[in-house]
Amino acid sequence: MIVLGSTSEVAQAFVEKALQEGEKFEKIYLFTSNKETTERFARHIDVKFLQQSEVIELDLLKEIDYNTFDTIQSNLLFCATGYLGEGTEEGLYDNKNTERIIDINYSKLVPVINYFAQKFESRRFGTIIGLSSVAGDRGRQSNFIYGSAKAAFTAYLSGLRNYLFDKKVHVLTVKPGFMATKMTEGLPLNPKLTATPKQAADCIYKAYKKQKNVAYVLPVWGVIMMVIRNIPEFIFKKLKL
Ligand SMILES: NC(=O)c1ccc[n+]([C@@H]2O[C@H](COP(=O)([O-])OP(=O)(O)OC[C@H]3O[C@@H](n4cnc5c(N)ncnc54)[C@H](OP(=O)(O)O)[C@@H]3O)[C@@H](O)[C@H]2O)c1
Repeated sequence: MIVLGSTSEVAQAFVEKALQEGEKFEKIYLFTSNKETTERFARHIDVKFLQQSEVIELDLLKEIDYNTFDTIQSNLLFCATGYLGEGTEEGLYDNKNTERIIDINYSKLVPVINYFAQKFESRRFGTIIGLSSVAGDRGRQSNFIYGSAKAAFTAYLSGLRNYLFDKKVHVLTVKPGFMATKMTEGLPLNPKLTATPKQAADCIYKAYKKQKNVAYVLPVWGVIMMVIRNIPEFIFKKLKL
């Protein structure tokens, strides 16, 4: 199994869920920009589940040497990589913030997934799970740089699913609403609309086993986003969302 964004609590909860359910992985490759924290998680699963794991440095904002990934083989890729950035007015007009959001959520991430997708394709087997966001369903003033990067990522996953369908590789797009993680720490989230990492992992695991194409974390978000997507633009543009 390959995990991108391994310090994400959702990624870690998903790995634990899969192992608890008895999934067998020859090795778990934990890609991370934060090796120290991920090493602790690796030791935890190695001891708890007698699993073999390897921590691999991957900072999307640095040069990537794909040769070092040459020997990696897997049937499951779980991508939790993401970056919220600053959605404030200062953040919006700060090009560094904008570039970082687009790079981590989309432009630097897609080549990495493509690299592994090609490996899956050549073996004609496997599943790619990508965590996008409800923010990508419609651009809103509060976070539209992040939302637009996620919209691009959602479109990428949709195209990849279509492309890989007859190559026997499945792609699952996950659209979380709010999740209580380090990304949203300190934000005033409505508890009724917020999933814990464990809830999110359970929901994603279920969708993975059912070979779903698109899954919302907490089904209520599917309804909310259906309403938001259908508000006519002449009304939508006046709303403070
Ligand atoms: N929390 C929410 O409410 C929410 C809502 C909708 C969608 N999502 C999406 O769900 C996914 C998981 O998010 P989360 O809530 O678990 O947040 P998170 O803990 O911030 O996870 C995102 C992960 O992205 C990786 N990452 C960040 N910068 C990177 C870089 N420069 N290079 C490589 N990897 C980098 C980090 O993993 P490493 O430290 O291991 O590198 C980080 O743990 C993300 O795609 C997020 O956009 C979250």
